Amino acid sequence: MFSAALLKKFQHIPTPFYFYDTKLLGETLKAAIKSAEKHNIELHYALKANSNKDILKLIKTAGFGADCVSGNEVKQAIDCGFKVNNVVYAGVGKSDTEIRFAIKKNIFCFNCESIEEIRVMNAIAKSENKTARIAFRINPNVNANTHHYITTGLEENKFGINVWELDDALGVIRKSKNIKLIGIHFHIGSQINDLTVFKNLCLKVNELLEWFSNRNIFIENINLGGGLGVDYYHPDVKPVPDFENYFSLFRKFLKIEPTQQIHLEPGRAIVAQCGSLISRVLFVKKGVQTNFAILDAGMTELLRPALYQSYHTIENVTGAKRKEVNKYDVTGPICESSDCFRKAVELPETKRGDIIAIRTAGAYAESMSLTYNLRSKAKAYLATDL
Ligand code: LLP
Repeated sequence: MFSAALLKKFQHIPTPFYFYDTKLLGETLKAAIKSAEKHNIELHYALKANSNKDILKLIKTAGFGADCVSGNEVKQAIDCGFKVNNVVYAGVGKSDTEIRFAIKKNIFCFNCESIEEIRVMNAIAKSENKTARIAFRINPNVNANTHHYITTGLEENKFGINVWELDDALGVIRKSKNIKLIGIHFHIGSQINDLTVFKNLCLKVNELLEWFSNRNIFIENINLGGGLGVDYYHPDVKPVPDFENYFSLFRKFLKIEPTQQIHLEPGRAIVAQCGSLISRVLFVKKGVQTNFAILDAGMTELLRPALYQSYHTIENVTGAKRKEVNKYDVTGPICESSDCFRKAVELPETKRGDIIAIRTAGAYAESMSLTYNLRSKAKAYLATDL
């Protein structure tokens, strides 16, 4: 349950807003770094999950590198103090301007997603008189068994270079003087809770490493992307994900040399549980079979339920001690029927003005916010601000 002690502090703050529990974020960062150091894994935080500058500064200070998917994310990472030699940059559609910007900045590695991109990268690097370090982002055709919108490692997905294109990709590398191949990269999907998926990825990566080694190509960096899921149903049970279990799996199943470096790019697992979307009930309305609790936050502040039918725990913080329980369709104010956080949610009797916390909103909420209906961007507060 969201901390009732914070309720008083919220009374005077206009809603909706994002609230980030910096203590929990700190514990999560500490656990991740400790376990990554033990297994000698380099972590690049995926900015797309949450690119709030205050959050980024905390993540940088904990010792993470950055994983970016746009020129603006690269810029934001550098502005927030991430070291350029710890920045990786993926994305199926990097524009020439974005590539040039990141080449000039001398980032650690571009994760290239097509043969055409490699050619363009070489040409731009040449015009800048630089050498760009790249990794092939390979589409391994491994099923992540997650929502189809956040599955990225199947041949039907747009991401990465297909395995059967690797020979041609190597041919381009041989002819390109301003590019250096330093690794291979994968990201097969997100919100993955079944760890056997990552084991399957490791087995596929082992086959590919052998393929490269048969061609006398040494792959120095192996980046397995992100994807570790969190518990949206029980945000308080184990708010810090089991990084140890997850990281040790790669050490166990990847067949690599001590000179080969493992990299991972967690996003959600780092920030999801520390964030809540705080809103107020505007109106309670009787429907035919249900009641509607209409909030001042909507799909514009948290798109996930509308886009992926995803589950978030919803709590009436003001009414926590009320005895009567009713069912409510909890919706936002936006002019779309998909603007519904969840149907038939059991909540204590809910009234206009009650504060509602939508939990596990630290990842892919603020970063995916929209201005649809000319909504203003919701503010974000860290626990230390209140
Ligand atoms: N690396 C790459 C190349 C990625 O594309 C992603 C996420 C990550 C790392 C981080 O994955 P994570 O550890 O956060 O699962 N908006 C969706 C999630 C989209 C994920 C896109 N890529 C959601 O709200 O569930």
